[in-house]
Amino acid sequence: MRTVVLTMKASVIEMFLVLLVTGVHSNKETSKKIKRPKFTVPQINCDVKAGKIINPEFIVKCPAGCQDPKFHVYGTDVYASYSSVCGAAVHSGVLDNSGGKVLVRKVAGLSGYKGSYSNGVQSLSLPRWRESFIVLESKPKKGVTYPSALTYSSSKSPAAQAGETTKAYQRPPIPATTAQPVTLMQLLAVTVAVATPTILPRPSPSAASTTSIRRPEPVGHRSQEMDLWSTTTYTSSQNRPGADPGRVPKEELSTQSLEPVSLGDPNCKIDLSFLIDGSTSIGKRRFRIQKQLLAGVAQALDIGPAGPLMGVVQYGDNPATHFNLKTHMNSRDLKTAIEKITQRGGLSNVGRAISFVTKNFFSKANGNRSSAPNVVVVMVDGWPTDKVEEASRLARESGINIFFITIEGAAENEKQYVVEPNFANKAVCRTNGFYSFHVQSWFGLHKTLQPLVKRVCDTDRLACSKTCLNSADIGFIIDGSSSVGTGNFRTVLQFVTNLTKEFEISDTDTRVGAVQYTYEQRLEFGFDQYSSKPDILNAIKRVGYWSGGTSTGAAINFALEQLFKKSKPNKRKLMILITDGRSYDDVRIPAMAAHLKGVITYAIGVAWAAQEELEVIATHPARDHSFFVDEFDNLYQYVPRIIQNICTEFNSQPRN
Ligand SMILES: *[C@@H]1O[C@H](CO)[C@@H](O)[C@H](O)[C@H]1NC(C)=O
Ligand SMILES: *[C@@H]1O[C@H](CO)[C@@H](O)[C@H](O)[C@H]1NC(C)=O
Repeated sequence: MRTVVLTMKASVIEMFLVLLVTGVHSNKETSKKIKRPKFTVPQINCDVKAGKIINPEFIVKCPAGCQDPKFHVYGTDVYASYSSVCGAAVHSGVLDNSGGKVLVRKVAGLSGYKGSYSNGVQSLSLPRWRESFIVLESKPKKGVTYPSALTYSSSKSPAAQAGETTKAYQRPPIPATTAQPVTLMQLLAVTVAVATPTILPRPSPSAASTTSIRRPEPVGHRSQEMDLWSTTTYTSSQNRPGADPGRVPKEELSTQSLEPVSLGDPNCKIDLSFLIDGSTSIGKRRFRIQKQLLAGVAQALDIGPAGPLMGVVQYGDNPATHFNLKTHMNSRDLKTAIEKITQRGGLSNVGRAISFVTKNFFSKANGNRSSAPNVVVVMVDGWPTDKVEEASRLARESGINIFFITIEGAAENEKQYVVEPNFANKAVCRTNGFYSFHVQSWFGLHKTLQPLVKRVCDTDRLACSKTCLNSADIGFIIDGSSSVGTGNFRTVLQFVTNLTKEFEISDTDTRVGAVQYTYEQRLEFGFDQYSSKPDILNAIKRVGYWSGGTSTGAAINFALEQLFKKSKPNKRKLMILITDGRSYDDVRIPAMAAHLKGVITYAIGVAWAAQEELEVIATHPARDHSFFVDEFDNLYQYVPRIIQNICTEFNSQPRN
């Protein structure tokens, strides 16, 4: 009971702060709402962003015409709260362009939003946002009070001012909201009823600011982005609806007989297929330990429609699906179902099972979502009785991320029976250890639970399917002008090296070329000059600093002519241009020529580089393709992001 009171108090204070910020006008609105028993649906315009509205769940009426591209939408299915509510409603297919009522529910922020084209709306990508929302059909839940008037955040909040004074390059300005932690509707209804301004003590401004600011750990290491979070109340993922029933006053629940069902952890939106070993040799006891791990994973992943979904396939002679992604859409049901799985017996045909999953499991009918990465976790007791390399390669090329958990491999005298030595390394994408686990003994299997859950949820790193790193011709265009200086030029080459290292280099995989420019241009090496990673890295090291002017436009033309003209037709053409200053010549026409020729262009600017020029050079959307750092020493920060964007873009494009 005590915790309930405390929770309510915190919410009352938060609510009060909201009222404080929103001022007298909305106070009136709120108290009006309390008095009025009948529910009327508030109306909003197409340009209203979800973050502007403080209510965690509400029904609104959208006007006609919100399909217009000027109302920006960020994300797919789950939208950043910086998006137009009504635009997102059209994108998600809940409304058409003629408008109507929708139910909007706030959920926790994501570490990335992927844009897509859907229902006539092109949504955009966004690296991360502190709060999201989903749009549902307007079916009011029984017993839930929806607000008849919405509470808007003030446009003069501290967050907005911080946004104005920050150089918010390649980020949208910070929307003026005081994000409320998402709690269940019932909690809010109680809070609103209590939070009439007259009965509340007035907290001092300093108390107010310490209460409302809870700064989370930043997801990445880029200090540039931390200001996204400052002076903003963080919407913790712990506060998502239904995740913590302990927060909900018991009386409220019982009067509404509303069982909290989790939407799932939005920070781990993946479509997961677990391949379990049902072969005869595994035995009953080990099969049971395997099921325990599965149940543990189902529990640890907060399964739900806005988070991870999980299905299970058992293999032996032939694979069979126990349940697909849609069968059990919450952790509890899934666990119960896992406990009922029985062992089928047979051989250990893992390769066959992987082919089966590639062909059958991730179909739309089985619940495959367009916005969630496909993940397969394969459990292998001992070793497979068939080959896995080819089947796994095909799976990865269709975009599936394969993890292997191998348990108790072959002993010395058993090695002769292993069909494919080193099979796990051959099956997974890159052999850096991220995609594979080896467990010495079945008794130690439970120790993989936490690391496994962490890795499968690391959607930023999941963008690795084999072809993302081996399909491109990458041309670096390096500014060798006098302003760079010898030391910084070495740093730029190090940056080029670090990017190159991430790719699989060979004649048939990714190839790398480089051009250096000042007023003039020179080809340092072409795509066909080196065909191994050590050779390329050496060649980069040997590039000598030129020194001179900065004619970026001419350099782009030169690269198209000398480098990309010799690219293979089946390769993605990536141009990565690094400059530290404004170009002496015009970049627009050369940049357009590059875009028209299908060269995906990244522009990285340092120090004196002109940001608007970088945006012109970069492929659309510029946010994902142009980057700026103040100092050469900070260039290294963009290596992971650029690799990730290259992979994300690759994975979002249709391919056969
Ligand atoms: C399943 O969804 C993913 C995107 O999340 C997509 O790449 C894949 O092609 C889909 N699979 C099938 C069989 O439709
Ligand atoms: C390149 O990678 C090395 C080693 O990881 C790191 O120390 C260095 O800062 C990186 N430099 C750049 C410019 O990316």
